[in-house]
Amino acid sequence: MPAALSKILPFAWPVSFLSLSKLGSPIRTKSFSIRFFSAIVKSKHFCEALVYRSHGHYEDVIKLETFTLPPLGEEDIRIKMLAAPVNPADINMLEGTYAILPELPAIGGNEGVGKVLDVGSKVNNFTPGDWVIPVDSEFGTWRTEAVCHAASILKISKDIPLLSAATIGVNPCTAYRMLHDFEHLKPGDTVIQNGANSAVGQAVIQIAAAMGVKTINVVRDRPNLKELVEKLNCLGAHCIVTESMLLKRELVSIVKDLPKPRLALNCVGGQSAGYLLDYLQYGSTMVTYGGMAKKPVPVPAKAMIFKNIKIHGFWMSQWKRDNKHDISKQEAMLSELCELVKKGRLSAPACTEIPFYDYKIALDATMKPYQCSKQVLCML
Ligand SMILES: NC(=O)c1ccc[n+]([C@@H]2O[C@H](COP(=O)([O-])OP(=O)(O)OC[C@H]3O[C@@H](n4cnc5c(N)ncnc54)[C@H](OP(=O)(O)O)[C@@H]3O)[C@@H](O)[C@H]2O)c1
Repeated sequence: MPAALSKILPFAWPVSFLSLSKLGSPIRTKSFSIRFFSAIVKSKHFCEALVYRSHGHYEDVIKLETFTLPPLGEEDIRIKMLAAPVNPADINMLEGTYAILPELPAIGGNEGVGKVLDVGSKVNNFTPGDWVIPVDSEFGTWRTEAVCHAASILKISKDIPLLSAATIGVNPCTAYRMLHDFEHLKPGDTVIQNGANSAVGQAVIQIAAAMGVKTINVVRDRPNLKELVEKLNCLGAHCIVTESMLLKRELVSIVKDLPKPRLALNCVGGQSAGYLLDYLQYGSTMVTYGGMAKKPVPVPAKAMIFKNIKIHGFWMSQWKRDNKHDISKQEAMLSELCELVKKGRLSAPACTEIPFYDYKIALDATMKPYQCSKQVLCML
């Protein structure tokens, strides 16, 4: 048995999968009906999953495969996945360029919401019908069903829209932490961010607005700018500018009546990040959490010497790991975010719902520029 198999996935792989994989032909594809198998082995549960066995371009490495699920252990939970987004980090994991890489073969997807179908005899904090999300990354959410240890999932409110539940565990949490953990922001303060139309950026706008904090939002120049500006304004953005306006310093006159930002959030890198620094007030902080432009973050010496700017990075996965001993912190953050959702102050990013079996469409669209829509695989 490849040692990797039992480790990477939140459940031990079943014997039937292993024997089939040795033959080089795992049960596979939607054309191979689950019903056919159910007729043979009635008591077993099956799962279809988007699996990668090597790293490379997503089109080359990701395949739909079918497995039997392991039996339910006494501390386990069986889940039906309902919806799971495709995030940039998921693609980086397939490519083998992300900071953490599951051992191969692995199932794609780190985020999503599932419904509890069955619980083991010693599980008393979950009941069938509960909605759950993974505690940590590397869950492998692009699948129809899973059996996992109860400690690897968290209950999430069922009173929020499905798309909010499917996309709450990574991007809104990242936005929440960056707005709370680096500067003590007060109502009336200002935050500047690039990639403002990203899912994280949209959550930043909404959470900041709920805190009474104004946001200056930088987006890339694009043909449908007016539409995007209207959308971000509706979320509560105070001001929206393009990267070329930043470059021409047109922002200076636009934001002259606002207090200088105390916090800059950068998910782009390159010049876009460098320009954010120009607008910050003395002693403020720039947090880098993404590198979409795949360019280094240029920090001029003058920003560090004369403005005493603090430069930080943030990674949600690390925060989750650092706080694993006290899961109540993650629960408290999720409950606060769910309350914002219920109050209509935090909506899911614009989403395109794609049937699970059309996963290629979702992966393709995620890699295209100017999409302004999160691709979400729907297993319903
Ligand atoms: N550190 C963490 O813990 C953490 C957590 C969550 C996300 N992230 C990172 O945050 C970033 C955004 O994630 P997301 O899920 O919110 O993304 P998303 O919703 O998929 O949006 C992608 C964003 O990146 C922009 N973009 C793409 N290519 C670009 C380029 N070459 N130059 C400039 N901008 C570019 C897009 O702008 P256009 O609309 O102009 O294409 C869009 O704003 C990613 O880098 C992701 O890995 C980090």
